[in-house]
Formats: sequence, C-alpha cells, structure tokens
Amino acid sequence: MSHFPIEQFEGVATPFYYYDVALLRRTLDSVCATRPADSIVHYALKANSNPRLLRMIAHAGLGADCVSGGEIAIAVECGFEPRKIVYSGVGKTDDEIRLALSVGIDCFNVESLAELEVINALAGDMGKTAPVAIRVNPHIDAHTHHYITTGLSENKFGIDISQLFDVIGQIHRMANVRFRGLHFHIGSQITSMQPYEQLCSTIAQLQAELDARGIDIDYINVGGGLGVNYEAPDEHLIPDFGAYFSVFERNIHLRKGQTLHFEPGRSIVCQCGTLISRVLYVKAGLNKKFAIVDAGMTDLMRPALYQALHKIENITSQSALYAYDVVGPICESSDSFGSDVMLCEAHRGDYIAIRSAGAYGESMASRYNSRHLPGVLLSE
Ligand code: LLP
Repeated sequence: MSHFPIEQFEGVATPFYYYDVALLRRTLDSVCATRPADSIVHYALKANSNPRLLRMIAHAGLGADCVSGGEIAIAVECGFEPRKIVYSGVGKTDDEIRLALSVGIDCFNVESLAELEVINALAGDMGKTAPVAIRVNPHIDAHTHHYITTGLSENKFGIDISQLFDVIGQIHRMANVRFRGLHFHIGSQITSMQPYEQLCSTIAQLQAELDARGIDIDYINVGGGLGVNYEAPDEHLIPDFGAYFSVFERNIHLRKGQTLHFEPGRSIVCQCGTLISRVLYVKAGLNKKFAIVDAGMTDLMRPALYQALHKIENITSQSALYAYDVVGPICESSDSFGSDVMLCEAHRGDYIAIRSAGAYGESMASRYNSRHLPGVLLSE
C-alpha cells in the first residue's frame, strides 16, 4: 500500500486533491534531463491549472500550451514566459486572439483557414504580425479511447494533410501572419511508441516536401499524449520520458534553425495528484457491498465520462481485502469510481485514495448538484 501522510489530512475537509510536490519536482527534473537539444516543452495547462503547480512548472523552465484566453492569462500570471506560450484550439474568439497578440505569444496553432483569416485581420488592426503554425491531421491511429483520439481523419481538429500546401499558399498571401511551421497532436494516453514513430515518418515526408518547394519552417510541434500507468501507479510514478523523447530525437532530423516543440499534459502532473475522500456509508446490497464515499463525479469525472480506471485504496485500514463498488453521492448512476474494487475492509470515516488524479481531475471538476469544488492540499 502506498504511503500517505494521513496525519496531515486530519481537519482538512474532504474531498480534496492531495499533490505530492516532491514527485512533481522529480518528474520535471526527468523531463528537463531527457528532452532533446533544440526543443521546448510546453506544459498543456488543460491537464491541471492549479496556480501553485503552474508556478513550479514555469520555474522549471517549461513553456505553456494554452487552449483559451483564460489559460493564457493564468500562464502569464504564474510566470510562464510569453515567448514560450503556444495557443491551440478550434474555436478561438476574437477577444482571445487579441489577448494572445498583445501578450506576444510564441505561436498560434491554427486549426482552419477561416481562423487564419480572422487572425490575419485582427493582427492587421493591431499593427502586429501573428506567428502561426498549421495543425495538421496526419491520419494516425493512436489506439486510445475514442473520445481522446484526435489524429484520425475527419474530426473537428486540424487541417487535413491533403489540404496543407494549399493552406500554406494562402498564408503566404496574408500580410499579417508569419508562417512558422507545423503542429500535430495524435491523441492522449498513448502507451505505445509506435504511433509516435509513425508521426515522425509523416513529419520526415513533409519536411522533404517543404524543402523541395523551398518553404522554410522553424517550428515543428508534435503535441502531447504520452500516457501514464493507471493500473500500477507506484511502479511507474514517473513516465519514461527518456524513451518518449528519444523516438523524436532519433527520427526527426531538424534543419538548421528548427526547434522541436512538445505539449505534454497528463504525463507531467497525473501521478502527483490523488483525490482523497472519506467513506460515508458502507451499504450491504443483495450481492454487493457499496462503499459510498464523499467524492463524486463532480470532483473527478473521468470514470463517469470515459469509464476510466483509477486505482483506489483504503489508506486508513490494513485489514483483509473485500470487494466493493466505490460510488459517489451524486444523483447519477454513472457516479461510480469502480466495481468490485478490492479494498481493505471499509468503515465510515476511512480515507479512500483515488490515485493518478493529477491530470484532468481538478481541472474538470464541476459544481453539479450545487456541490463545492474539491479542496486542495499540497505536501509542502
Ligand atoms: N496538445 C493538444 C493540442 C491537446 O489537444 C492535448 C490534449 C494536449 C496537448 C495534452 O495531451 P496530454 O499530454 O495531456 O495527453 N480529458 C481527457 C484528456 C483530453 C485531452 C485533450 N487534449 C482525459 O481525462 O483523459
């Protein structure tokens, strides 16, 4: 069983997210030690935008990958350098584009020709030139959950690879945008390196074609998506960044002046976060035992939304294991964290740890049922 400082939890209202700051620091050290030369790692804020974690991530020298004006504002506030901020999203509003231009971000990852035209017009009004990259949809199957697979053909993200050179031609006719390069994101929670190898070979082909046409780029952004181990978090607290980065280092041959960009979210923050709740009631059903806990899908919606598995532990008790359905208090049948979960015998008041919850946990919390947002406790 993992070790949690339960003494520190006394008096803290549950449910709350507990973040292991030392683990986050070690994870960031691993990213910084293994990333390729000539690369910038932009942390994807959508995974977790808790300001205290953001400050640590910015302090480690990472850049930011933002998907809204709100994320750009909080990134700047928490110390990310504007020249290391990139901005993606299919539906950027005029106000958000103006904010990004006035902050002076590094690059817009543009998802449609219609968006390019608006960026061009707004940059012109402001007397600025907008740096843009085109998000290309490379038709690569990342073999993850269908809600988080984004690289396959015809979805709302990006521009089809067959339209790329046409769009580049249009950009060169626009006065207020500067074409910097290509952006990709093939999906999330990717645990095999094979889709990334495929992405690298697509990139190599595109680089050759750009060279042949005499088009210079200085920006190649391969997105995020590196997966984590939800089944056995303690065996893999820090994802294998070395193996991940080396795929790109070996297979992408940067031209002079080109920089490689990464946008990891989950792999940076997932394992340092745990949702801590307490057992409210143990209910003996006809065939099942239910552990009804005080956290629900409003605090961590991944199980309800994606049938995602999170390891669950009773960290108060060390007794024999029994099977429980661990459910929350929300009035929805999908408000369940797992069926037939083996837990040390549960009693009212026991602390229940729902692991690997640092990514897309707190950031996706809601106030459904007029509940409070979950609290936060940092280890230091
Ligand atoms: N870059 C782009 C353009 C993205 O769309 C995403 C995530 C990332 C980077 C970061 O991906 P990561 O390294 O975190 O996999 N809520 C879902 C995940 C949605 C991911 C959306 N895009 C979940 O809880 O699994």
